[in-house]
Amino acid sequence: MTLRACAFLLLAGCSVDGPVDATDVGSPDTAVGDVFGGLPERVTWAEVQPAYLRNCGGCHGGQGRGGTDFATVYEDALADSDSCAPDHLLRPLRVASCAVERVDAGTMPPGDVVVPEADAELMRRFLSSGLAFE
Ligand code: HEC
Repeated sequence: MTLRACAFLLLAGCSVDGPVDATDVGSPDTAVGDVFGGLPERVTWAEVQPAYLRNCGGCHGGQGRGGTDFATVYEDALADSDSCAPDHLLRPLRVASCAVERVDAGTMPPGDVVVPEADAELMRRFLSSGLAFE
C-alpha cells in the first residue's frame, strides 16, 4: 500500500508496520499507559531500586557478584559496564543500560528466572529519565 493511501486510511486503522500488538509495550510514545497504568512516566533511583532488589538483589546487592552492586549502590548503576558492548553513541555503556539490555536479552538474571514486565519497564524508564537520583 502506498504511503498516501495509508495516510488516507489512517483513521480506519491502517498501519505501515502492521497491526498494533496489545502485548507490545513499545516505547514511551506508544500507549504504555494502558498496559502499565500504575507506573510513573519518570522513574528515579528511589522508584527503580525496589525492582532491582526484587530481581537482582540476591547477587548485586552487596555481594559484588559480577563486580557490581547496582541494586543497592546508585553509583554502581551509573558506572561503566564491563560486560555490555559499548553503544556507538553513548560509550561506554552504563551498568543501568547494560541491565536493561541483559534483561531484554534474557541473560540476566542467570537461569530460567524471568523479570516481571512491569519491573523491566521500571528499569527502562529509569534510563529514559536520565538515571535521575531524585
Ligand atoms: C544468581 C546471581 C545473579 C542474579 C540474580 C543477577 N545477576 Fe547479574 N550478574 C551475575 C554474575 C555472576 C555476573 C558476571 C558474569 C556475567 O557478566 O554474566 C553478572 C553480571 C551482570 C551485569 C554486567 C555488569 C557489567 O559491569 O557489565 C549486569 C548489567 C547484570 N548482571 C544485571 C543484572 C540484572 C539487571 C539482574 C536482575 C534482573 C541480575 N543481574 C541478576 C549474577 C547475577
